[in-house]
Amino acid sequence: MSENTIALNQAANPLAPGSNVWLFGYGSLIYKVDFPYLERKRASIEHWSRRFWQGSSDHRGTPEKPGRVVTLIAEAGAVCQGVAFLVSGDTFEHLDHREKNGYLRLGIDITLDDGSNVAGQVYIASAQNRAWLGAASEADIARHIATTTGPSGPNRDYLLHLAKALRDLGETDAHVFEIERQLLMLTMAAERPAMPPG
Ligand code: BEZ
Repeated sequence: MSENTIALNQAANPLAPGSNVWLFGYGSLIYKVDFPYLERKRASIEHWSRRFWQGSSDHRGTPEKPGRVVTLIAEAGAVCQGVAFLVSGDTFEHLDHREKNGYLRLGIDITLDDGSNVAGQVYIASAQNRAWLGAASEADIARHIATTTGPSGPNRDYLLHLAKALRDLGETDAHVFEIERQLLMLTMAAERPAMPPG
């Protein structure tokens, strides 16, 4: 599959002009809201887990050294917490471009924080896309993120902003928080003054 998914998303998922659509955000959409929306609610989806398994050569890395960003992995019984935005269908022109590096836009059932369920859309990068990096230990992912940067800034800022946004929502995510912990340990080790000889 091509890494650039703009045309695929617009062809596979045309939205009726003037329609409003719920969009589930679980990554940068939670903390970088550069699009208009009508409503914003805490929300969750079932049977998906957030993982730093997708490569980013256009935002948090380069083609030579892609960064690591989140995608969703199917996992029976898992619940992924995030934010649902009610957006106008026109908004996807911007978002399909912003999230073009391997993400397909799919239909999904979203549970809003009042317990109601709505049909919506979510961006997911699967193992079939060329930017896919796949599983690694949280320590290895933290080491990778610590040394990678791209046009949208350091990969570490993406991780730290996401972890803070989840904390601000009152959510926990063991994978994200463990990578954050490992990254902060690396930073502290790098900043620790060298012991004087003797
Ligand atoms: C999100 O924040 O939902 C998102 C994550 C990765 C790509 C596109 C959107």
